[in-house]
Amino acid sequence: MTGLFTPLQIRSVEFKNRIFVSPMCQYSAHNGLVNEWHFTHAATRAVGGSALFIVEATSVSAEGRISRGDAGIWDDMHITPMRTLADTITKNGAIAGIQLAHAGRKASCTRPGKVVTSSNSTKVDGKLSGLVLFLLIQMIRLQKKFLSVILIQLLMIL
Ligand SMILES: Cc1cc2nc3c(=O)[nH]c(=O)nc-3n(C[C@H](O)[C@H](O)[C@H](O)COP(=O)(O)O)c2cc1C
Repeated sequence: MTGLFTPLQIRSVEFKNRIFVSPMCQYSAHNGLVNEWHFTHAATRAVGGSALFIVEATSVSAEGRISRGDAGIWDDMHITPMRTLADTITKNGAIAGIQLAHAGRKASCTRPGKVVTSSNSTKVDGKLSGLVLFLLIQMIRLQKKFLSVILIQLLMIL
């Protein structure tokens, strides 16, 4: 414990202490884009004094996400918000790290068996939810309780 607050040099990088924040999935990104939630989460940890803040598992491809809320860097649109996140960490006194990720066969950014690209994933989700909602309304009108419950569960997954 005595060394916890002493600096650590790894090659050219000097960490002010040995407290590193592990990458933590926030499930809060939309289409892979980090946002105010991530900025606040990172800034508050950095202000708390940790030397290194590692940004959550960040997917290198849309299909490789652990969940649809994962941060990503598979498209140029991710550059600016990720830059802001890195700057936020640095400005608040920590060194910024990132965990590059691909969930492989455990990826679950979509329903099993459906191939989704970065550009159409949101569209597919939206259309499907709309269809399920429509069916749900019909089933409620027809008083099909069992089917309605299944559709409600489907809506919650989508
Ligand atoms: C909310 C939450 C999100 C996490 N997300 C990630 C992640 O994105 N990548 C990862 O490798 N580990 C993730 N973990 C695991 C942590 O990085 C860490 O390994 C785990 O909490 C155990 O830490 P410890 O060995 O210091 O107790 C997550 C943990 C929590 C609690």
